[in-house]
Amino acid sequence: MTTFLSGIQPSGRPHLGNYFGAIRQHVASQEEDGEHFFFIADYHALTTVQDAEALRSNVREMAATYFALGLDPKRAVFFRQSDVPQVTEITWLLSCVTGMGLLERAHSFKDKTAKGIKPSVGLFTYPILMAADILAYDSTIVPVGKDQVQHVEMAQDMAGHFNAAFDSQVFVRPEYRLPETDALAKVPGSDGEKMSKSYGNDLWIFETGKRLKKAVGRILTDSRDPSEPKDPAGVLLVDFLALFLEDKELNEWREKIREGGANAPGYGHLKVRLIEAWEETFAPARARFEEYLADPAALDATLLVGAERARERASGVRDRAYLACGLR
Ligand code: TYM
Repeated sequence: MTTFLSGIQPSGRPHLGNYFGAIRQHVASQEEDGEHFFFIADYHALTTVQDAEALRSNVREMAATYFALGLDPKRAVFFRQSDVPQVTEITWLLSCVTGMGLLERAHSFKDKTAKGIKPSVGLFTYPILMAADILAYDSTIVPVGKDQVQHVEMAQDMAGHFNAAFDSQVFVRPEYRLPETDALAKVPGSDGEKMSKSYGNDLWIFETGKRLKKAVGRILTDSRDPSEPKDPAGVLLVDFLALFLEDKELNEWREKIREGGANAPGYGHLKVRLIEAWEETFAPARARFEEYLADPAALDATLLVGAERARERASGVRDRAYLACGLR
C-alpha cells in the first residue's frame, strides 16, 4: 500500500515555491491509488512564529489554501500536526536513537544559523519531529521540494536506527518524491536565491491587483538594454514565466531575448506577461480561498475530522513502537 504524506509550516502565506514544489504535487497525488495524509505543521512553525493570533490565522489560511487548490478532505486525511499528540511521543523515542552529529549536519539548521538566527533547542531538533511526522503514519512517499530532501533522508536514518536498536521492524522506510523538474523543485525568490519565507524573498500565490504588480516589480533585473542579445537562462523573470507558460510560448520569449534587437522584449514586457499569467492561473482558486476563509468554523471542523483519522493511525504506530522498546 502506498501512503503519501507531507506537511507545510503555517509560518506565513504559502508562496510560489510551496505551490510548485509541494502543494501541487500533494493535490495531484490524490489521483494515485493509496492513502493520503497532509498536514499543517504548526508545532514546527512555533520555532519561528511566536504570536498566538498570527499562528491561528496562518493555520486557517493554509487550510483554506489547500481546499481552494483542490485538496479533497474526503480523499485525503488533512489535519493540524498539534492535534496528533502521538507524534510528540514518537519524537522522544527517535531522540533517544539519534546522534547529535546527525542533527549538526542538517543544512537547514546550518543555513538558518549562518543567517544570524539564534537557534532554539526546538530548531535544532526540528528534523526529529519531522521524522516522527513521517514515521507515525507508515508513510512510503513524501512529496516535497528539494530543500526537504535531507530531512526525509534523516527520517530514513532514524527509522533504521530505531529498528536496529530494538531488533524490530516498527518503522517503515519512507522515500521522498520531488516534482518533475529542478526548476519546480527549487523555485527562486525575487532576489534569485531559493524562495523562502525566512529569506523575505517570497511571493504569495494569491497576490493580485496592485499588490501583485508591486511584488512582481521587486523581481531582480539588471540595467542591460532590451535590444542587447542575452542568454535567457540568466534572466530571472524567464524562470518565473517558466512556472506559468506553455513550452511553446516560453520558447518564443526565450528566442526573442536571445536575438535582441528592436523586437526584443524589455523587462517591463516580461513583467506584464507574468502578472497576466499569474492572475489567470490563480484567480479561480483565489476566489474559492476567500469563500473558505469566510467560514472559519467549517475549516476548524474539517481539520478536526482529519485529526481524528490521523490520531487513529498514529496511535497504532506509537503502540507498536512503545511495545518494541519496553514502554509497555
Ligand atoms: P515548508 O513549510 O518550508 O515548505 C513546504 C513545502 O514547500 C517546499 N518548498 C519549495 N519547493 C520548491 N521551491 C522552493 N523555493 C520551496 N520552498 C519550500 C518544501 O520543500 C516543502 O515540501 N519541514 C517542512 C514541513 C514538514 C514536513 C513534515 C514536510 C514538517 N513535517 C513531514 C514533509 C514531511 C517545511 O518546513 O516545509
